[in-house]
Amino acid sequence: MENNQERGQWNDKLGFLLAVIGSAVGLGNIWRYPYLLYKDGGGAFLVPYFIAIITAGIPLVLLEYGFGHKFRGSAPLSYTRANRKFEWIGWVPAFASMVILSYYCVILSWAANYLIKSFNFGWSADPNAYFFDSFLQLSDGPFSFSHFSWPILIGIILIWGINWYYTYRGVSSGIEKVNKFMMPTLIVIMIIIVIRGVTLEGATLGLNALFTPDFSRLGDIRVWLDAYGQVFFSLSLAMGALITYASYLPRKTDLNNSAFITAFANCGFEFLAAIGVFGILGFMATQQNVPIDDVVTQSVGLAFVAFPQVFNLMGAFWGKVMGVLFFASLIFAGITSSLSLIETFTSSFIDKTGADRKKVATVAAIIGLLLSSMYATGAGLYLLDIIDHYVNAYVIVSLGMVEAILIGWAVGASKMREHANAISYIRLGSWWDIMIKFVTPVVLAIMLVLSVVEEVRNGYEGYPTTALLAYGVLMIVVLVVIGLVLSKRPWHDPRMVEHSGFEHDYYQTDEL
Ligand code: TRP
Repeated sequence: MENNQERGQWNDKLGFLLAVIGSAVGLGNIWRYPYLLYKDGGGAFLVPYFIAIITAGIPLVLLEYGFGHKFRGSAPLSYTRANRKFEWIGWVPAFASMVILSYYCVILSWAANYLIKSFNFGWSADPNAYFFDSFLQLSDGPFSFSHFSWPILIGIILIWGINWYYTYRGVSSGIEKVNKFMMPTLIVIMIIIVIRGVTLEGATLGLNALFTPDFSRLGDIRVWLDAYGQVFFSLSLAMGALITYASYLPRKTDLNNSAFITAFANCGFEFLAAIGVFGILGFMATQQNVPIDDVVTQSVGLAFVAFPQVFNLMGAFWGKVMGVLFFASLIFAGITSSLSLIETFTSSFIDKTGADRKKVATVAAIIGLLLSSMYATGAGLYLLDIIDHYVNAYVIVSLGMVEAILIGWAVGASKMREHANAISYIRLGSWWDIMIKFVTPVVLAIMLVLSVVEEVRNGYEGYPTTALLAYGVLMIVVLVVIGLVLSKRPWHDPRMVEHSGFEHDYYQTDEL
């Protein structure tokens, strides 16, 4: 029959949990969550945030675990087994993963470069000018590639090399091993950053600004959408990563419990990161004698401009130590997330073609390396910005909506729930069906509509429309076309998808 014997499997439950938490904990936890918490009402933001976790985060993690576990396949295989007509939907995340990876690895390359620069404050006394003019050598527009950066390319090769190596080694001896090392190390690093952060002079200024609740913000729908968006992105939902990882679980495993652990571990890590980041920003505001509002930024501006400025202020010893720890935390958090994205791609091809994992991993790494190289040019940051926006605002949100609708309505939320309940200690009630069938699709639909309206009205960040069409819209069209084309090609062993629905069980092994 199918290659179930050869299909990877986790060594133990801890390995699976660390891998899914590794996928969830990423750049979004470190550089986006702290900013949202501050901007969207401080302590008051925790209300929409926890509501989002309970009404969409945990239900969707459960849905993906159950889907991957029940149908025992990558996204395209699981969708095909659920219903032949859905196959193409599964291919979209497989390729969207490569799109995300193409720039995710570039950010990790920047972080690797900055890790080395930490040893001698290589970002100079003016990190802002250094980052944009010397390091990126940013060109004057998204179509002007102007220059090619060797240090960034070398970093990209390094990061893709690591990704290739662990994917090549497979599920239990590659991905699981590296997560078992990187995740505990990451937590230790983050705890050190937080302890040093909150003991800096002026840290309380930052923490007060972060947590002081402003309940009036809860009246703004955008705050609620930010909460849902963050939970969605942070838990790595809708990209097929959790489906793929859950497909490597043994038959008897507590799915519901794992979903709760994943969500709470991810949210605990975000919270920790927020405390560290705002302690450090409070110190910066105190040193520069400016209001906290002036120093708060997120993403690239936080990691490569504001933080290097703070490290300069910390003096020779702590500045270097914190620099190394901070950039190492970005790299560790990022690699464990990127491995889950590659796995989404590789497992889809292994399932479809029956090809050897080693070959597929090598091809994936080469394609990824070539795509990432585009961002080593002077237009890199523009490309990254536009593509990231389209992926987050449209691709992930639409995929999540389609996933909840197809699995919730066509496959059947109650059947999925029965599957999970049969092997889990905590039993889900019918509230779960309501979340999947109604709440999640409605929230995601509102997000989608608001993004489109905003885009049509104001464009995006002043980029020329041609650039948005070329890099954003075209990318989405290509993803859909690839999905449709691949779904017309046969599976290497037609028996793999002969049965559909729940009457058939795909397992051959029954361990644990
Ligand atoms: N969760 C990751 C972060 O917080 C990023 C991410 C979003 C992701 N979607 C994903 C990672 C899908 C892996 C798979 O940074």
